[in-house]
Amino acid sequence: MVGSAESNAAVWKSDASVAQWVATEEERERARAWPRRLLAELLPFAEHEEFTFVDLGAGTGAASRAVLDRYPSATAVLADYSTQMMQEGQRALAAYAGRYRYVEIDMAAGRWPDDLAGGLPAVISSLCVHHLTDERKDGLFREVFARLAPGGWYLNYDPVSNEDPAVEDAWRRVQDRRDPQTALKRAHRTPEEQARWDNHVRHIIPLGPQLEYLRSAGFEAVDVYWKELDHVIFGGRRPVA
Ligand SMILES: C[S@@+](CC[C@H](N)C(=O)[O-])C[C@H]1O[C@@H](n2cnc3c(N)ncnc32)[C@H](O)[C@@H]1O
Repeated sequence: MVGSAESNAAVWKSDASVAQWVATEEERERARAWPRRLLAELLPFAEHEEFTFVDLGAGTGAASRAVLDRYPSATAVLADYSTQMMQEGQRALAAYAGRYRYVEIDMAAGRWPDDLAGGLPAVISSLCVHHLTDERKDGLFREVFARLAPGGWYLNYDPVSNEDPAVEDAWRRVQDRRDPQTALKRAHRTPEEQARWDNHVRHIIPLGPQLEYLRSAGFEAVDVYWKELDHVIFGGRRPVA
């Protein structure tokens, strides 16, 4: 576990890795516009309601921006542990000045800033929980539950795996048909790209256990609110009473 946490930090706290990630972000985000918008729409707020949400593993703030766009009176707390990603985020979030702040958190350690101790109306995460060990996924969901206000929602957008290789083959077939470069890139990764890929897939697990983590943490209204191939939006809310 320590080794994998260190490799993950080596990717996300590396100037070169983050520069490469940011350089290709726009292209990846084009395909994510719809799930990003849906995640925002799933939050139970009126359009002009004032509320503050937390975005875990926020990176440069792609998920936060979708929520801030959907709710013009909302403010965001973006939590991450990579100085490089947070610096890039300051640039990406320039148009949202005054509506967001960054805080440092290491989700692998389970220590949260004192001012995020409870009463949160909503917590979101995207494309980062899969970097945690199963023990920490479970732990993180419990920590989120404990910090949500009654009725508060948690939504997570993330890749999952499947134990049936035929299912994974079907996912890959569609991905390769949509972008023939994908298969080529897979076969010709540089050592750095391979290290980033290994870090990406290391802790991706099926959906079922993650829904169980949510339920056993106490969440209700647990559902898979969207799914396309290996990407899902799932979550639930803390009971009102
Ligand atoms: C693939 S990026 C996703 C960023 C953003 N949520 C998005 O949807 O574009 C993964 C992010 O998770 C952050 N991250 C990975 N492990 C983390 C940890 N243990 N604690 C805090 N942040 C972490 C990385 O620094 C990075 O910003």
